[in-house]
Amino acid sequence: MQALQNKICSEGKVLSAEVLKVDSFLNHQMDPALMQDIGREFAKRFVDEGITKIVTIESSGIAPAIMTGLELGVSVVFARKRKSLTLQNNLYISQVHSFTKQETNDISISKEYLQATDRVLIIDDFLANGQAALGLLDVVKQSGATAVGIGILIEKSFQSGRTLLEQTGVRIESLARVASLEDGTVTFLETVTA
Ligand code: G4P
Ligand code: NA
Ligand code: NA
Repeated sequence: MQALQNKICSEGKVLSAEVLKVDSFLNHQMDPALMQDIGREFAKRFVDEGITKIVTIESSGIAPAIMTGLELGVSVVFARKRKSLTLQNNLYISQVHSFTKQETNDISISKEYLQATDRVLIIDDFLANGQAALGLLDVVKQSGATAVGIGILIEKSFQSGRTLLEQTGVRIESLARVASLEDGTVTFLETVTA
């Protein structure tokens, strides 16, 4: 998606060969017009999949997820992150390890908001090592719902997440695929036309 790539080029800050900071439009301040365009783009790509629900994870997935839900006319549910959630029988819970933060959190969604009949589109801001997306897939699976797609804003293709997610067989759509952050420069995997 050209608009997102342009924004990354103009406002993204390469902190290291692994980390891209996008606080000006996604992770701290947010750009509503860009989020709306992103919602339209995901809706266009997934319109034929019979999506009945969007699932994301707090906090930075919520903005693009809600715009996608608005476009597709479906509700958006965000998984919550907590340290530990034992003895909670009204929740679907999965453990997510962050290699970046070196910590493991439980993520959860109330059983009230996911039905076995749901066809779910998972949305998240970053795809790095794929652990958050795998946790969301696990939660969806526990509910008996069908995960029909994963929509990512910024995929760091040089990390392991993309390959891990491909092994699940679920359709993946990444709007910007970053091949490298070497030498302080963002290099994209492909030049896109959308
Ligand atoms: P993984 O889920 O792909 O395995 O990712 P990882 O644990 O490495 O990521 C931990 C957090 O860091 C996630 O946000 C993720 O979105 C974010 N992240 C990963 N790589 C980058 C990057 O290069 N740049 C930026 N800006 N963020 C990155 P989170 O802690 O869950 O928080 P939130 O921002 O959604 O609240
Ligand atoms: Na994040
Ligand atoms: Na996120």
